[in-house]
Amino acid sequence: MAMQEKQKPLLTVLQGQALATPPTWLMRQAGRYLPEYRELRAQAGGFLDLVYSPEKAAEVTLQPIKRFDLDAAILFSDILIVPHALGRRLEFVAGEGPKLDPVGTEDRFQEFLPEQFDRTAGPVYETVARVRERLGKEGHDRTALIGFAGAPWTVATYMVEGGASRDFMTTKKWTYQDPEGFGRLIELITDATIHYLGQQIKAGAEAIKIFDSWAGALDEIGFERWVITPTEKICRALKKDFPDIPVIGFPRGAGARYPDYVRKTGVEAVALDSSVPRQWAAENIQALCPVQGNLDPVCLLAGGRALEEETQRICRAFAGAPFIFNLGHGVIKETPPAHVEKLVKTVKEFKL
Ligand code: CP3
Repeated sequence: MAMQEKQKPLLTVLQGQALATPPTWLMRQAGRYLPEYRELRAQAGGFLDLVYSPEKAAEVTLQPIKRFDLDAAILFSDILIVPHALGRRLEFVAGEGPKLDPVGTEDRFQEFLPEQFDRTAGPVYETVARVRERLGKEGHDRTALIGFAGAPWTVATYMVEGGASRDFMTTKKWTYQDPEGFGRLIELITDATIHYLGQQIKAGAEAIKIFDSWAGALDEIGFERWVITPTEKICRALKKDFPDIPVIGFPRGAGARYPDYVRKTGVEAVALDSSVPRQWAAENIQALCPVQGNLDPVCLLAGGRALEEETQRICRAFAGAPFIFNLGHGVIKETPPAHVEKLVKTVKEFKL
């Protein structure tokens, strides 16, 4: 009993137990909407300098934890660290987002070399270790630490398009014209991701989230081959080495394919984007595993009555079964921090 009382609420829910007050955290809870983030970011220079400075990155990870009563800290890093550590050139251009040297259909990929990868990614593991230590030392012993990576499909779109894209035309064309060749890129990213997440767990991550932000762009067969198959491989590898570490999958835009994703990948929980109908999700997804979500980030930005009502509606829809409160996507940079405070308070005060 004493053990159970001590357990972090997020981990309790991820083990399949419902709590009367859902644990709460937010995607992109650290970032530009916080003045203290903007200050540290300016001191560090570039975004990558911040990610690769363990002391600063740990501080940024903890900023939202100090300000709000949140149940999870998520490592401050980026999904594009994997391509960067694989040796691809990466730059974050102010106002334009990430830029990478595009991978071409003619490129040959060498096998994954973990030592070489860690020469770049090493500081990220150091950040994980520092955050975990500071959570304990600074009195946040109910806050769980989440490590993360992008899913191979989403990371591949950035590597092939050379940055953000609207329609993923080049990547999708490649999947149709040369699935074996594209499959070799997916395999390389998958191997790197298994290693990268394992290193985060060894450094102290207590749960893992896999971001597949562009899962919704694929057709039925593509979704199976490029979203489900590599994610299943990652989950299976992690389960073998770290059987107690839960994985939250986020196949954004998967719609009616969410239940299939849960059944076939082996994730312990899924994050729902804002478009997923709640009652349908309670009946068809929450019956399979714990769910997380799904407030529209624009509603958080807007605040006021709509924020309060939507928050309560979500709590009501998912009450009684394992549920984690979150947004359907990341915090928008214009969001007033006071709205986050209000959101957290509304969830904590929620009663059926
Ligand atoms: O959630 C968190 O607080 C942890 C940190 C985190 C970041 N990115 C920090 C970041 C996480 C989990 C991510 C994931 C990520 N990165 C995703 C998946 C989730 C999603 O949003 O769909 C994706 C697709 C990326 C790729 C990426 N990184 C883009 C497209 C951009 C530029 C967009 C923008 O807002 O400028 C980034 C940069 C980035 N990653 C920032 C932050 C705080 C902003 C960089 C800055 O400070 O200028």
